[in-house]
Amino acid sequence: MKLDVLKYPDARLRLKSAPVERITEEICRLAEDMVETMYAEDGIGLAAPQVGRPLRLVVVDLSGPSRREAATVYVNPELEILGEETQESEEGCLSVPDLRAVVKRGARVRIKALNLRGEELVEEADGVRAICLQHECEHLEGRLFLDRLSRLKRNLYNIKRKKILTGDDA
Ligand code: NI
Repeated sequence: MKLDVLKYPDARLRLKSAPVERITEEICRLAEDMVETMYAEDGIGLAAPQVGRPLRLVVVDLSGPSRREAATVYVNPELEILGEETQESEEGCLSVPDLRAVVKRGARVRIKALNLRGEELVEEADGVRAICLQHECEHLEGRLFLDRLSRLKRNLYNIKRKKILTGDDA
C-alpha cells in the first residue's frame, strides 16, 4: 500500500525516531509499504518518519524506481562516517518538494543494522550509496538535508514553500 509522504514543514519530520523493539509482522508490512511508496514517488530512499512513523527504519534502492531490483531494508541503523574525505552532490528529498541543492557529506560510511529477519548486516559504502545512507539516517534524528544549506538558501526556500502552501505562487 502506498503511504502519504509528509512534506516540509510538517513538525513530525523533526521528531527523533525510536528504535524498533521487535520485528513484527506490522514492521515488515511497514517496510514493504515504504518500498512501494519510494518507488511510486520516484525516490531512491525513504525513512519511516517521512510516512509519519517515528521509527528507526530506512529503505534504499539505488537501482531506481524503474528497475526496482535492489531494495535494502535497514532496521535500527547505526551509521559511521569513515575517514575525513568528503564528497559533494546534488540532493533532493521526497519530503522537501521542489528543491534540489548541493550538499557536502562524508565520502565513505559503514552502516550496521538488522534486516527484516533480525540478522545483523554490516555494509561499507561510498559514492551515491554513502550519500543516500547519510541522508536517510539523518531523517531518524529529525534532520533534513535542507538544514545543511546556507541560511540564505533556506530562507529563499521557506519563502517559496510558503507561497505554494498558501496558493500564492502566481
Ligand atoms: Ni529525504
